[in-house]
Amino acid sequence: MKEILNAPFVVEMVRMATNMYAHGWDERNGGNISYMLSEAQVAEYLDTSAVLRTIPTGFEAPVLEGKYFLVTGTGKYFKNVQYAPEVNLGLIRIIEGGKTAELLWGFADGGRFTSEFPAHMMSHAARLAVDPDNRVVMHCHPANLLAMSYVHSLDERAFTRTLWQMSTECIVVFPEGVNVLPWMLCGTNEIGEATAEKMATARLVVWSQHGIYGVGRSLDETFGLIETAEKAAEIYMKTAHLPILNTITDEALWQLADFFKVTPRDGFLSAR
Ligand code: 13P
Ligand code: ZN
Repeated sequence: MKEILNAPFVVEMVRMATNMYAHGWDERNGGNISYMLSEAQVAEYLDTSAVLRTIPTGFEAPVLEGKYFLVTGTGKYFKNVQYAPEVNLGLIRIIEGGKTAELLWGFADGGRFTSEFPAHMMSHAARLAVDPDNRVVMHCHPANLLAMSYVHSLDERAFTRTLWQMSTECIVVFPEGVNVLPWMLCGTNEIGEATAEKMATARLVVWSQHGIYGVGRSLDETFGLIETAEKAAEIYMKTAHLPILNTITDEALWQLADFFKVTPRDGFLSAR
């Protein structure tokens, strides 16, 4: 059996948590990541029949039965993941239709997965229905997206159009736009269900006055998605209070969509 601390998926997760902390997106224990792994990946490093303990989830997600996830722990600081991966991360397998998680590695101080586990698992289930290659759900608290949710309309079309106008690459990176939830109590099955519903039509879901969820096929891709939206929100926050002299027009956005062969969310650009 190989050393799990050297597993590419653990190394990548540690680097990602460290990088996200460096970006200021994950103050204190803010943010959480879940990364779906195949049984073959896990079996190189762990005896998959050796269950350390079982943890009830409080919800059901039948399509995730038997699936493996590397996930950040609740109350754990992203800045500390690099110093003690086996305390701050856990590797679990979902059983009993989602009602139970079997811990195979990690959470070594007796900890458990993130309090946002419902939103993570329900989002995985929702995205797998849209994209069977989806692997990652990432949540964090980037300051500009958060700030924008205080001063901008939360209408999804309006919010998306503003982000698209703030930086040329936005419509290419997230042509489906961003979905937005109003403020809701975090950590609950209800916000999990609402997030998953929004994930059916976009890979980014803003949690107003809280943060953002992103999903993707890899940690890098998911990070890049959030990074691009957050940069656009930063430009918005730097310019919204100034006289706006120039913008990216809908005609320019259509040109980008054509050239980069992406399909903008239906109805979000004016017809041409
Ligand atoms: P956890 O420490 O439980 O992951 O919670 C952090 C967070 O961002 C809650 O939304
Ligand atoms: Zn949060």
